Amino acid sequence: MSDAAPRLAKRRVGVLISGGGSNMAALIAAARDPAYPAEIVCVISNVASAGGLAKAEAAGVATAVVDHKAFPDRESFERAVVATLDRHDVEIVALAGFMRLLTPWFIARWHDRLINIHPALLPSYKGLHTHARALADGVKIVGCTVHYVRPEMDVGPIIVQAAVPVADDDTADTLAARVLTQEHRIYPLALARVASGAARVVCDAEGRERVVTDLAGTREGALVSPM
Ligand code: GAR
Repeated sequence: MSDAAPRLAKRRVGVLISGGGSNMAALIAAARDPAYPAEIVCVISNVASAGGLAKAEAAGVATAVVDHKAFPDRESFERAVVATLDRHDVEIVALAGFMRLLTPWFIARWHDRLINIHPALLPSYKGLHTHARALADGVKIVGCTVHYVRPEMDVGPIIVQAAVPVADDDTADTLAARVLTQEHRIYPLALARVASGAARVVCDAEGRERVVTDLAGTREGALVSPM
């Protein structure tokens, strides 16, 4: 018998990827901490050549390829994804560079248990090429967002954001690299809050949703750019 306090069961998380999987790797690394409230039980890619698959296998996480091109329509593809997630008893789904739009059916199936990371400070710069568009607009602060997924693309209650200053000589690539570093910080933080129940969605009288966490947070200070 151990004297250690019993640990609460970790929430079972499936990660959906399409590419390199650096955010997936950050989630797997964070979940190694025995105190982390979630475990990554499977990684599914819709692209067979996705670099993240090898990273997940090297970390001992089960992987599967569900190639959307092998299915006649979006819904049958998603049913195959759900069947794989269900086989692993997944409770929470984290999209990590998963580049397929999901149907309202899939999104409703995982309501408030489906989260996404987007490389911009939502609701600004939804969609693709966020850094190039932000540079073209001359904005001085960019960032990244983890949010609950709703049927509209890159819309949903925001869980965590990080802000990154823009330098005069930044390119879309240099900016993407610095934002990605922050993505790797905030995605594990956001998943922990979802898994522990700390990130709760509340709805106002007009039906607008937002996340509350009961965390004290920081009220002072600001990122001023350029400084
Ligand atoms: C990340 O920057 C992520 O925010 C972005 O794709 C990249 C995936 O990198 N996602 C989107 O643009 C989704 N709209 P990763 O595979 O190394 O995590």
